[in-house]
Amino acid sequence: MSRIDKIGEVLITEEEIVARAKELGAEITEKHENDDVILIGILRGAVMWMTELMKNINLDLTIDFMACSSYGSTTKSSGVVRIDKDLSSDIEGKSVIIVEDIVDSGVTLNYLKGYLAGRKPKSIEICSLLDKPAGRRADIEADYIGFKVDDVFIVGYGLDFDQRYRQLPYISYLREDDTDMIVE
Ligand code: IMP
Ligand code: MG
Repeated sequence: MSRIDKIGEVLITEEEIVARAKELGAEITEKHENDDVILIGILRGAVMWMTELMKNINLDLTIDFMACSSYGSTTKSSGVVRIDKDLSSDIEGKSVIIVEDIVDSGVTLNYLKGYLAGRKPKSIEICSLLDKPAGRRADIEADYIGFKVDDVFIVGYGLDFDQRYRQLPYISYLREDDTDMIVE
């Protein structure tokens, strides 16, 4: 049985995402022309956005990945995040750009930023495909944002529900009756 029929309309098309990646890539290129840049993609949601973005950054950069997960709904509010895969690279003195799929509560990125700051990078910025300001609980904003979204559960272009729908080449949402299934 296919679950693709639970998907709503397309909110952001592939063409729009590709165009936005070009704009943000150019912005990052200009801002960091004298820096030693490392892009850090947050698995797994950021994978599609990371590949599109990096094609458009004309710098001698390197990339790495991290994976992390929140402990659970009670500890999540205290900002406790577990690192499931740490970096393979040294980031000391480098201009770090964390590449994320979405900033929702901001708890994950708030924790990650503090964690990475301990390794003495030159700077830490965040480039997120999506921003959901209505969900914010931590005091954090991305430096580069692809698109703002309303307070709905987003899927596609890397973002999942229950590990599904990541491969959709556009941003959509789960229809109302299905989001009841979401448990934290
Ligand atoms: P945070 O709430 O900002 O810490 O977001 C943590 C993670 O939750 C994000 O990196 C996403 O993987 C996931 N997430 C938050 N909102 C959504 C959504 O609307 N759809 C799919 N994943 C989401
Ligand atoms: Mg994620």
